[in-house]
Amino acid sequence: MTRFPEGFLWGAATAAHQVEGGNVGNHYWEWEHDPHGPFAEPSGDTCDHYHRWAEDLDLLAAAGLTAYRFSLEWSRIEPEEGEISRAALDHYRRMVAGCRDRGLAPVVTLAHFTMPRWMARDGGWTGPKAGDRFARFTETVLPVVADAGYVCTVNEPNLMACMPVLAATAARGERVGGLPRPDQETAEALLELHRRARTVLRDGGAPPSGLTLVGQEFLAEDGAVEEMAAHRAAMEDQFLAAAADDDFVGLQVYSCARIGPDGPVAPPDDLRTLADMEYRPGALGAAVRRAAEVLPGTPLLITENGIATADDAQRVAYTEGALRSLHAAMADGADVRGYLHWSLLDNFEWFAGYRPTFGLVAVDRSTFRRTPKPSLAWLGRVARANALGAEA
Ligand code: BGC
Repeated sequence: MTRFPEGFLWGAATAAHQVEGGNVGNHYWEWEHDPHGPFAEPSGDTCDHYHRWAEDLDLLAAAGLTAYRFSLEWSRIEPEEGEISRAALDHYRRMVAGCRDRGLAPVVTLAHFTMPRWMARDGGWTGPKAGDRFARFTETVLPVVADAGYVCTVNEPNLMACMPVLAATAARGERVGGLPRPDQETAEALLELHRRARTVLRDGGAPPSGLTLVGQEFLAEDGAVEEMAAHRAAMEDQFLAAAADDDFVGLQVYSCARIGPDGPVAPPDDLRTLADMEYRPGALGAAVRRAAEVLPGTPLLITENGIATADDAQRVAYTEGALRSLHAAMADGADVRGYLHWSLLDNFEWFAGYRPTFGLVAVDRSTFRRTPKPSLAWLGRVARANALGAEA
């Protein structure tokens, strides 16, 4: 049997806008309704998790999992600048308590891609007021995150800084060949927001905090070793370096990046998943090894890993492969504290809408009925054994 360390967390993850439904106050909602925009469809009610979160936590806990990652929706908490919704704060406080009541460690993300519309209209993430606003928001939610296990500040600043190029590609109906290099100005602005939040969290005595980053296995194609290293430095190394003083780094790994002499190379068609990523379970271990090498001494948490597929047996096979590669990296010294699968629910996959299904649980889009897939029970058995090998 392949055992994981005692106390290793096993869970699943979501993000507010992808599951809550009705997030009319954020900039994605507005963007989703732009007829020339990149979205296949609008988010709408999504999984109605805002009202059904207790049922969803029950599913997680009953399966045997021990952690749940979710995000706070800033536009619900601060619908207009400076106007705080105490009801929304209470909602998220109840979710944190609801996790604890069920033996789940809450992993809370402060910003998972969305911002209030008022902020988007006035400078957005990179505007001059963003740092102060995010620091103030962090201060507002200190009581909510006080009892969390971990707090993630900004979700994937390295992907957010690629957004303009990704959005343009999607709006033209083109397939993504791979992640482009992030825009440097945006990257620096987002890292500054992270530092501002980290200071507020530390001063406020909050639980361990860190960034979450897209991690990939970087592969050089056609001898493009230098191009690959330069791409990796821009996409990964600079963000890892910025996380050196964090309490942990959240890694979100799905696949590999093949970099050729002219930049990212699209994966072969027969290996593409429903999210247009290459099927590559071992990418998890490779990304973890690299992060542990660049940042020795900083604990890692796998805050996302999963596959968009309509074939749940393939999800289990992918996850087992990913976990084996993770375990091997840990056996070689990587300090990893837990694994959170993306995602708990089939949800709104941003530009691609509802077609790519990442969930351990299926959701009927009209009745909101939840149907756990065999992969949920499988991951629960792994969690209960804290090992691979006994769960089949
Ligand atoms: C994001 C999620 C997204 C997932 C799958 C990550 O980049 O944090 O919001 O759904 O990847 O594409």
